[in-house]
Amino acid sequence: METVAKKNFTKTEFRLGQFLSSTLQGEIRLAVNVSNNEEVIVKTTRKNLHSTKKSARGRNIKENIIKESNILKKISEKGKNVPMGFVRFVGFAEDNENYYLFEEYGGISLMTFLKQSFHKPNFETYNMHIQYIIQILVNTLYYLHCHCSLCHLDLSLENVVINPKTKIVKICDFGLSLFFNKQQNTNQNTFLCTQYCGKPFYAAPEVVSKRPFDARLADVWALGVILFTMLCCVQPFSKADLNDERFDCIMDGKMNILLDHWGMQDYIPEDAKDLLNLIFKYENERTSIDKIIFHKYVRNAPIIL
Ligand SMILES: Nc1ncnc2c1ncn2[C@@H]1O[C@H](COP(=O)(O)OP(=O)(O)O)[C@@H](O)[C@H]1O
Ligand SMILES: [Mg+2]
Repeated sequence: METVAKKNFTKTEFRLGQFLSSTLQGEIRLAVNVSNNEEVIVKTTRKNLHSTKKSARGRNIKENIIKESNILKKISEKGKNVPMGFVRFVGFAEDNENYYLFEEYGGISLMTFLKQSFHKPNFETYNMHIQYIIQILVNTLYYLHCHCSLCHLDLSLENVVINPKTKIVKICDFGLSLFFNKQQNTNQNTFLCTQYCGKPFYAAPEVVSKRPFDARLADVWALGVILFTMLCCVQPFSKADLNDERFDCIMDGKMNILLDHWGMQDYIPEDAKDLLNLIFKYENERTSIDKIIFHKYVRNAPIIL
């Protein structure tokens, strides 16, 4: 039986506000905690869909709001005093029809931010924003992997939010995340995951080929796709599969040819290209997050507030 450690919230303690987005099993709305005026989001999940593990469109899905709530609660408590880039757990409630997960409101998605900011008059400033965002994502992923033993497994531009005023960046949507532990290790350093997950654009080659994979390195690959997409405003490839010409080109060490083709070669900082080339590697050669935190593109990020 699944359990969730609840704060004793009822949904009546929140004033529901603007609709933000549909989700696989419900919706996300802004809400205000009436006791302290804190702005939060509430992720509502329909119990009938949850019990059949189906999305509103009838697809089988792996997301599970109760598991997500437990994960978010656990990492929020663990990171209470750590200024980390993920949205915090606020509470959980249920009634006959729905589950309600309350979370800190993190702002607009990076996808929306990108659409609003790309190629704005000064590309250099835009580049600095990207470097700053990537530094936060790298530090947060390092924290999740190395301090919480958690893999996100669904990193994407949609699942990172940014407050446009404060520019604070946070990862959200832990619906597919997994804790790994020593018993699951086949050797001391590898956690083999068999859950095919995330959005196809962001899936690493070993995930696409449906072999058991190291979930931490799959997160790193998705981070590379996020970085590339933010820099070029186009996805690096449609699928991490050799039938995809752009994937073939990048894995062959010829990213510059692609960038030239798109007229982006002169815009992308050399350090960013170097980092991308370390990430867009097959699993056994890909750089892990504990090395990426020391990469010069990450280390030299500007502070933007
Ligand atoms: N805490 C949050 N703050 C702001 N926006 C959020 C937050 N959580 C989710 N969102 C937005 O709502 C969208 C859908 O929520 P998400 O949790 O990703 O649902 P799904 O599991 O269906 O993908 C996200 O892509 C994000 O843009
Ligand atoms: Mg999502």
